[in-house]
Amino acid sequence: MNHSTLLTGIKPTGVPHLGNYIGAIQPALEKIQNLKGQSYLFIADYHALTTLPDPQEFKQNVYEVTSAWLACGTDPNKTIIYKQSDIPELFELYWVLSCLTPKGLLNRSHSYKAHIQEKKEDFQIQMGVFNYPILMAADILLFQSDFVPVGSDQLQHLEITRDLAGKFNHTFKTSLMVPPEPLKEEQTSLPGIDGRKMSKSYNNHIPLFCSSEELKKKIMKIKTDSLPPTAPKDPQASIVFQIYKEFADAQQIQDLEHKLKKGCSWGEVKLELFELLEKKFQTQKETYQEFLSNKKKLDQILNEGAVKARIKAKEFMQQVRKTTGIIH
Ligand code: ADP
Ligand code: TRP
Repeated sequence: MNHSTLLTGIKPTGVPHLGNYIGAIQPALEKIQNLKGQSYLFIADYHALTTLPDPQEFKQNVYEVTSAWLACGTDPNKTIIYKQSDIPELFELYWVLSCLTPKGLLNRSHSYKAHIQEKKEDFQIQMGVFNYPILMAADILLFQSDFVPVGSDQLQHLEITRDLAGKFNHTFKTSLMVPPEPLKEEQTSLPGIDGRKMSKSYNNHIPLFCSSEELKKKIMKIKTDSLPPTAPKDPQASIVFQIYKEFADAQQIQDLEHKLKKGCSWGEVKLELFELLEKKFQTQKETYQEFLSNKKKLDQILNEGAVKARIKAKEFMQQVRKTTGIIH
């Protein structure tokens, strides 16, 4: 029997969106159903601190992300759900890994490069942004995670994690660190309403759970071309269709493809997407609101998760301390 471990995290930088669902939530929960080993889902609050959020909003966002995990079907009796900041052992492992990380490896990180492009000057770039991949490697390696479901934007971070696992194992002649794998080689990157990758930081996202009015408003804002309603349209070139096909079944996809090729108005297609999403997430939306209005319960779930996660974290760090010679 293969006892694999699954782990993934989401930053509490805003309300969870459809991209988070497709890249992380759905694949994680699907895999957990048949997983023989332990699963860990966490709220990456210290990673979110790199954006220096407003403290009150930050707290609320932690509850939003936790409620989203739970509403989508996470069973806290089976899966360990916790806040990153509740696991102090992470920061010890983070330092150990930092001592093995060549600066050049992090110079190549896409997110750091994007910051250089934007800010130009070294003194405007925080070390938290530069060291971000080491903390992510610590998140993953601390729990000896085999599978890490993430969207395509995070695949480079998994490669860095694998590099660091290899460096540790080679340096200390051990196999303690488990190099993680993404769930799929080919990852979907869901476009946002402006066609760029859907992201909270671009403010082009469609929330997973919001009022029907807000959902409709967001969908109606999706960028389209200016072809007249009767003109045939290329489904693959349409943002609305790209989003639609991730949530629809095979028959629905075929029907919409046919409709677009024949020619129909963008308003009509957007309405189809709206109805699809409304129906798909109706029950979860209610559960989400129930969790969100019970902060005491959410705190209890997160605290219990942290206690369980720390059993593994403490035991693993003890092995790391022994292996590195910090303790004898
Ligand atoms: P954001 O980019 O909105 O800040 P996060 O960084 O918190 O989102 O991402 C959490 C998870 O969701 C990660 O695994 C990430 O790869 C995935 N994800 C985020 N946006 C998308 C997207 N547009 N398509 C697919 N996966 C995504
Ligand atoms: N960096 C991830 C993101 O921006 C969030 C994250 C932090 C994560 N640590 C992780 C994801 C460990 C998977 C595993 O989306």
